[in-house]
Amino acid sequence: MSVNDGGSDFVTRLNEIAASTEDLLDRLLAAAPMPAERARPKRLIESMRYATLGGGKRFRPFLVVESAALFGVPRERSLMAGAALECVHCYSLVHDDLPAMDNDDLRRGRPTAHKAFDEATAILAGDSLLTFAFDIVSRTETHPDPGIRIALVQALARASGLGGMAGGQMLDLAAEGRFAQTPPRLGLAEVEELQAMKTGALLRFGCLSGAIIGEAFQIADDILDVEGDPETVGKATGKDADAHKATAVAVLGVERAKQKLFGLVADAEATLAPFGTRATMLKAAARFVAERRA
Ligand code: IPE
Ligand code: IPE
Ligand code: MG
Ligand code: MG
Ligand code: MG
Repeated sequence: MSVNDGGSDFVTRLNEIAASTEDLLDRLLAAAPMPAERARPKRLIESMRYATLGGGKRFRPFLVVESAALFGVPRERSLMAGAALECVHCYSLVHDDLPAMDNDDLRRGRPTAHKAFDEATAILAGDSLLTFAFDIVSRTETHPDPGIRIALVQALARASGLGGMAGGQMLDLAAEGRFAQTPPRLGLAEVEELQAMKTGALLRFGCLSGAIIGEAFQIADDILDVEGDPETVGKATGKDADAHKATAVAVLGVERAKQKLFGLVADAEATLAPFGTRATMLKAAARFVAERRA
């Protein structure tokens, strides 16, 4: 997928990093096994490639690459970390779409992984993408210093697991009321916590300002569920209210959710101010998050 909104410098850069991420994932997810892997079963590698290639804005790799560039990190290395993060993200989408979770048929404008393959394969594709992410960050191409690689492994584990994305997904399902007689009514602070975990944690791994952008990103997703066009968004809309999802829109209403969203963009811009023009792309990213249509 390439994002198209009139060809600003930001969109050009986002699409350029998306193309490099696609090439890298294509190479990493080759059919041939790595040393110490016995084989890459055809159906599993095909489902992993289906879930990761040929779609997505690649906004998380963009955050990694642009934030790393502020500190002079070479592009080849930051692309590796970005590809690892995208693997965790794609795994989270495959599992999020399963019948046991959000039960969705459309993702990135195509059938979801369990529709294109089957549920068991989709579960294994998700499992394998998560572990593959750690394979990627542990490689010397990501960073020659083993201490830095360990730090990346730990940060990615904490962002992905029980205190991050997976924990946030647990709170998301619990907030639907499926584990209780009466659905809990979440306040704004609780919805913020849930969003900071299910979406913010992975974006935060991308960069610090991404922590702010991260909450804004999920609010924008919640607004798109109400106002988005399924053709443009590439997935079903209008589902959150029916599923009693705890979203910013459910707590605040669309208009106040939008005010909150633009307030967070202003916070992100203020956080990035000390970096001056070196952070132009990240500031544009914050605006993109709030104004995106897909
Ligand atoms: C969708 O993420 C799921 C959320 C965490 C809100 P994206 O909007 O980044 O989806 P892709 O990667 O571009 O398909
Ligand atoms: C997903 O949130 C967050 C994940 C960790 C995958 P949603 O359930 O709102 O994402 P979409 O709308 O299906 O992309
Ligand atoms: Mg969900
Ligand atoms: Mg969903
Ligand atoms: Mg959503």
